[in-house]
Amino acid sequence: MKHMIYMLITGETKIEEYASLTKTYRFSAGHRLFIKALSDEENFEIFDTCSNPNGHGHDYSVQVRVAGDIDPQTGAIINLDELDRILAPVIDELDHRRLDIEIPYFEEKQPTGENIAKYIWDSLKPKLGDKLIHIKLSETSNSYFEYYEEENYPYEL
Ligand code: NI
Repeated sequence: MKHMIYMLITGETKIEEYASLTKTYRFSAGHRLFIKALSDEENFEIFDTCSNPNGHGHDYSVQVRVAGDIDPQTGAIINLDELDRILAPVIDELDHRRLDIEIPYFEEKQPTGENIAKYIWDSLKPKLGDKLIHIKLSETSNSYFEYYEEENYPYEL
């Protein structure tokens, strides 16, 4: 785990040591952004071409970052094969799917980058626990989405 020092006087928490590992996984998927209660025209006003009734696709890449102690024997935070084994069913479930039709979660929630990143996070969290600190989902060469929890929020508020 990250080694946290709690400063009794100032009440601040400082990180004494930090090591992370990030690995990229890829999948392709289709989606359509639309609000069911609205017409195609109204959806176009909100989502533009992303609400094309026949859907459209993206080549996604997802960067999964884990942090924690460096195992003294292996020299690693996590065995890379183990990380691959944990990711495989999550990526396989999404790959070459029409997300809003084939994945029940996205029948109720918009299959946006934000929600896909959260879905991947929620799928990995039970297996990676506190080691999981950051998900970065790239949807196009111009856009990416991040998901993490408060304690790992990387920016000053
Ligand atoms: Ni799209």
